[in-house]
Amino acid sequence: MQSRSVQALLATLWSSSCLAASSSKTPDFATSEAGNPFVDGWYADPDTQFYNGEYWVYPTASRPYDEQTYLDAFSSPDLVHWTKHSTILTADDFTWAHRAVWAPAPVYRNGTYYLYFGANDIQTDSELGGIGVGVAEKPEGPYRDPLGHPLIGAYHNGAQPIDQDVFVDDDGQAYIYYGGHSHANVAKLNDDMISLGTFDDGTTFKEITPENYVEGPQMLKRNGIYYLFWSEGGWGGPDYAVSYGMSSSPLGPFDRIAKILQQDEAVATGSGHNAVIQVPDTDIYYMLYHRHPLGSTNGNDRHLAYDRLYFSDDGTIEPVKMLVHDNFEDGDMIGWETYGGDWDAKTNALRGTASSGGLALLNTNFSDFIYEADVKISKKGNNNCVGYAGLFFRVSGPSSDDDSFKGYYAVISTSGSLVLGRTDATGVIVLGREEVGIESTEQHRIRVTADGSSIHVELKGERHAVISVKDDVYKSGMDGVRVFGIEAEFDNVNITRISSS
Ligand SMILES: *[C@@H]1O[C@H](CO)[C@@H](O)[C@H](O)[C@H]1NC(C)=O
Ligand SMILES: *[C@@H]1O[C@H](CO)[C@@H](O)[C@H](O)[C@H]1NC(C)=O
Ligand SMILES: *[C@@H]1O[C@H](CO)[C@@H](O)[C@H](O)[C@H]1NC(C)=O
Repeated sequence: MQSRSVQALLATLWSSSCLAASSSKTPDFATSEAGNPFVDGWYADPDTQFYNGEYWVYPTASRPYDEQTYLDAFSSPDLVHWTKHSTILTADDFTWAHRAVWAPAPVYRNGTYYLYFGANDIQTDSELGGIGVGVAEKPEGPYRDPLGHPLIGAYHNGAQPIDQDVFVDDDGQAYIYYGGHSHANVAKLNDDMISLGTFDDGTTFKEITPENYVEGPQMLKRNGIYYLFWSEGGWGGPDYAVSYGMSSSPLGPFDRIAKILQQDEAVATGSGHNAVIQVPDTDIYYMLYHRHPLGSTNGNDRHLAYDRLYFSDDGTIEPVKMLVHDNFEDGDMIGWETYGGDWDAKTNALRGTASSGGLALLNTNFSDFIYEADVKISKKGNNNCVGYAGLFFRVSGPSSDDDSFKGYYAVISTSGSLVLGRTDATGVIVLGREEVGIESTEQHRIRVTADGSSIHVELKGERHAVISVKDDVYKSGMDGVRVFGIEAEFDNVNITRISSS
């Protein structure tokens, strides 16, 4: 009996520690933990489903229309590690589709995976194309044509048949929301999911166009409220954005409440065409969207990102902040550009080696911010020269050829000091130095607070040190890290705007 109850106790402990382990995996992040963009490549118009314990993301391949003949997908168990699934659907399998395969909308029903997409970008009803549907036995396809023709192949209420989203309500009724050219429709889908139903008044298409609507509708139901999201502005430019409305009915009306996702001049532009990720059985939501890198002028230069979506107590949605964070847990350094040195993130930290200088920069442009990162000198150089590693900020003009860039730096050096300085083509100016006796292989968290002309550097932890100066030669620019003469590791990068005082 005694050993039995000990066994029972052990079993209880065992199972509760299992529970603890699994719940600690719940992705409860402020933004993409391993950085945005969270996957590599040019993609747009993402939609998502949770299939078989994994998050699936289905985007448009962001290329010239004639090259948009296929769809890729990505899956992840934790929103951090992503697996690419290439060519899950190809226009070759749809006799009527040949270009502009856009904005896939996934849904699972009754043993079948469905993927709705727009194709051919028709401008008139005399052209063949519109919204099609593919069916597959697995989330990764291959998706095949059950119809042999588009599901919606003509304009209704002025809505171009593109940009569909499919939503299944709690009562089992499925709806398709769609429409380009500034008109949005909703229609019922029959239980077979490949034919359209009718509303009580006998019509098939009901116009629900909200104020400012351009394209990209997306339906979410939460606590009995129907949220319609849509995109405004032009998809190729910086102003593309997401707004939303709320209704007690899936058919609206959806009065425009607010714009909740838009460009941030410090982070990215053209943030739009969203979907919403819900962590199953939680009230944790993420805004999933595409955006352009700062300064990019190619409309197809679109990348996938997600950030936290917070609801207020009254059910309205707070503006989404595009945050800058990377813990390199995906073993990747997507979004970082390097200038000299050897860099990788295979150890789940950003590791750089450079006999002379090496820079790794994020394409950000903050003016006033708090920038934190862990810095570790992991290997000293072979010669007796002093090496250093640390944070660089308000950087401009980086080049792979020389060190003529401009910016500020806050570094730790192999001679044991914390140094704040400014650099340009003519050399460096030391603004402050503290001897702190830093040893190699210690990890240090460096925190830079730059607010107008006041620049404050703090070395956190045991060897605590502070340098505060006034200097305003550089007012904004890129953020990143640099290594010189040694090998160093950087981790848990986090940059947050502060409003100027
Ligand atoms: C679900 O699939 C089964 C087998 O194909 C079919 O008999 C049944 O009618 C389907 N149910 C619905 C609601 O479509
Ligand atoms: C960065 O932002 C500042 C304003 O904060 C702007 O003047 C500057 O042109 C921007 N730099 C780039 C490279 O876009
Ligand atoms: C990032 O920095 C901000 C400001 O210091 C802080 O509020 C936030 O918690 C940090 N986030 C992470 C993930 O470290």
